[in-house]
Order: sequence, then C-alpha cells, then structure tokens
Amino acid sequence: MLSRRKFLNAATAASLVAVSPATLLAEQRLLPTRPIPASGEALPIIGMGTSAAFRSGDREASWNVMSPFQDHGSRYIDVSGAARFVVADIAREKGRTRDVFLGSYFSAADDVRSRADAARLLETSGKKSLDLMHAYPENAVPNWEVMTRWKADGLTRHIGVARHSSQHYDAMMGLMKTGTVDFLQVNYSLLETQAADRILPMAMDKGVAVTINRPFINGDYFKTVRGRELPAWAADFDCESWAQFSLKYILAHPAVTCVLTETANPKHALDNLGAGFGRMPDERERERMLSLIKSFA
Ligand SMILES: NC(=O)c1ccc[n+]([C@@H]2O[C@H](COP(=O)([O-])OP(=O)(O)OC[C@H]3O[C@@H](n4cnc5c(N)ncnc54)[C@H](OP(=O)(O)O)[C@@H]3O)[C@@H](O)[C@H]2O)c1
Repeated sequence: MLSRRKFLNAATAASLVAVSPATLLAEQRLLPTRPIPASGEALPIIGMGTSAAFRSGDREASWNVMSPFQDHGSRYIDVSGAARFVVADIAREKGRTRDVFLGSYFSAADDVRSRADAARLLETSGKKSLDLMHAYPENAVPNWEVMTRWKADGLTRHIGVARHSSQHYDAMMGLMKTGTVDFLQVNYSLLETQAADRILPMAMDKGVAVTINRPFINGDYFKTVRGRELPAWAADFDCESWAQFSLKYILAHPAVTCVLTETANPKHALDNLGAGFGRMPDERERERMLSLIKSFA
C-alpha cells in the first residue's frame, strides 16, 4: 500500500502542469524528490541553508522558518558550526529527527575533533548515524581516506565535499575521480554559471548527488532584478516570483539533486518552496532566462 507521503508525491507529479505553485503550496502538497545515487534515498528538491535564525540560536525564529519546509516534505538542512546543534535539538524536540537530512561540516584534517563533533551531533539529534558529513576541498583532498573511515565506521551514511567558488572546482573534480564522495555541493545560478561547464557534468557521470549553494548569490541576485517586472513567459513554467525564477533555472539542470535556500523569513521560505512545484524550464527557456538576467547585470 502507498504511504501518505508517497501518495501525495504521486498526486503532485500528476498535477504538475495543471496547478500553480501557490495552489499546490496552499494544498500542503509535498515536494518532488530526486534520488541520491549512492544510497538510492529520495531527497526532496528544495532544502535549507544555514539561516541567520539558526546562527542566532533563537529557537522560535528557527522553527518559524523550518516549519514551512517541514510542512512541504523538505528534508535537507545545510548547517555548520554551533548552529547545527540548534537545528538538531529543535528537530528532536519537535519529533522531526527522521524528517531532517542534516548536511554538516567537518574537518578531514582533524579526525579526532570531527569524531567528537559527530558524536555530539548524534547525541543531540538522536540519530543512529549522521546523514552527511562533508568537508571543504582544501582538507578533504589530502585526507579523503579519513572521510571514508567516517562512513565505514557508521558515523555517517554519506560523505561529501562542499565549496562556493569556481577556484575550488579542480580540487573537487580530483576528489570525485577517486570515487570517494557521495555528495558535491557547489555554487550555481543565473549569475554564476561556471559549474555547468565541467563539474556538474562530471558529477552526473560519476553518480554523485549535487546540492547547490548561493542560489541568490547571498542576496545580490535580488539587487540585480530589483524594480524589474517578471516576464509574462515565466508563467509558461509555473514561475511566480524572481526567487522561483532563479531556483527553477537551477533545478532544471539535470545534475542537480537539491538546491539550498537560505532565509530567515517564513514568507520567503514559502516563496522558495513554490519553485519545487510545477513545470521546470526546458533548455530553450533556460537560455532565454540567462539572456534576460545578463541584460540586467
Ligand atoms: N559550503 C560552502 O562553502 C557554502 C558557501 C556558501 C553557502 N553555503 C550554503 O548555501 C546556503 C545558501 O547560500 P547563500 O548563503 O549564498 O544564500 P542565498 O540562499 O543565495 O541567499 C540568501 C539571501 O537571499 C535572501 N532571500 C532568500 N529567499 C528570498 C526570497 N524568496 N525573496 C527575497 N529574498 C530572499 C535572504 O534574505 P532573508 O533572510 O531576508 O530571506 C538572504 O539575504 C547557505 O545558507 C549555506 O548553507 C555553503
């Protein structure tokens, strides 16, 4: 028998073209998912970045921004430093530990400290194994065997490498060649397209799940589109805002598993979640989107 979640996902898929993102959100539909190649696990396509609410440690503000994501089946939360313990603790308190897929940062150059942090995160979250331990390429590349032991020892189900600038792509590609990493996290958007040249095709080729950071260039994208009207043709791919315009461009790339959006504003959270619904732009539409944004920049 189909679980409620599977049923709602199937219903969402069936109604993708006919119903607008706003309607799907109002109906509390669940996000579509894409598989993590290494584990086959299904990951909803919109995730959260490290919200300022998490960093402030304000539990109420954190839950206010987490709960719209939870309501729509979002799972991935990318979180570093002390904020990860805040998120893990809130998820446990709300009985949502199993619904949260935590992507957290560790130093492969400091195995002892990373194992201690992982143990604390396991204890705080109540998880038996972490979902994803990732590291920056500068310490992951020379220490990738340390990371493979984290996974072999059952500390985590997935390992990955994460960075936000094209200057790190060569190192990250070298790491992907070893066949070690399950996840790659890179920057990619209408204003930062370099990842599409080589690293995203390679991730697809190697069966590495891809999460995308900086979908709004940490907010600068909104300066570029400020005062501009969303083109009427954006409605052809069920796009209702400039935020969704960026997220749908990213999600339409075939290598992308999940895009990470950072916000401390629950209204923005709903806007961003809307991008997961409806049709995604095709190649011709994506080129048109790119030319439009280039003409503003
Ligand atoms: N591994 C790495 O090296 C790395 C590096 C950078 C980022 N990351 C990860 O990627 C995540 C996202 O990247 P990012 O930090 O560059 O942030 P981003 O998601 O590109 O942009 C966040 C900014 O956009 C605003 N915003 C979000 N949704 C909006 C909407 N619908 N309408 C208007 N404004 C909106 C936010 O303001 P409000 O709060 O007011 O909504 C915030 O100022 C980070 O949180 C982090 O987890 C990882």
